[in-house]
Amino acid sequence: MLATGIDLIEIERVRRGLERYGARFANRFFTAREQAQCAGRVDSLAGRFAVKEAVGKALGTGIGDVGWKDIEVLSDDRGRPHLTLHNAAEQLAAERGLRDWAISLSHTATHAVGLAVAQGAPPRPLGEGWGEGPEVAQ
Ligand SMILES: CC(C)(COP(=O)(O)OP(=O)(O)OC[C@H]1O[C@@H](n2cnc3c(N)ncnc32)[C@H](O)[C@@H]1OP(=O)(O)O)[C@@H](O)C(=O)NCCC(=O)NCCS
Repeated sequence: MLATGIDLIEIERVRRGLERYGARFANRFFTAREQAQCAGRVDSLAGRFAVKEAVGKALGTGIGDVGWKDIEVLSDDRGRPHLTLHNAAEQLAAERGLRDWAISLSHTATHAVGLAVAQGAPPRPLGEGWGEGPEVAQ
């Protein structure tokens, strides 16, 4: 099984948050390493934000009790982003049997999109909230 999540965000929302709340906003959502790599590029921060939301969806819980900084998106020296989970996010992924995460992100002038895929999600029975299939007539 695969688990997936996707999120689309208006870059303006992130820009407004940074303008209004500055470091408090940045520090709430992004690790020091993420902030350092993005170097003030709001589209890159928005892309990471979208990936974090996407990971929340793939976990099946949304962000919920998972801290934003427990989902960390860093880029390698070729610019390719990769995911590291910490604390509650790492624990939740382990409980749900989710491993081998892959992520991707993209941005235009106005929007950023993030995608996350993980292997190993056990099929969940119908009726357990997210992931519930459509009703099938008996
Ligand atoms: C890297 C590339 C695919 C980005 O595409 P783009 O249309 O210019 O820009 P997008 O907004 O869609 O995507 C940008 C994001 O792609 C991601 N990215 C960059 N390099 C990447 C790579 N080598 N592999 C995967 N993702 C990459 C980054 O997350 C980047 O956003 P960020 O800088 O905020 O982290 C494009 O610049 C390109 O084709 N470069 C040359 C070829 C190349 O290195 N391709 C890599 C895939 S093999």
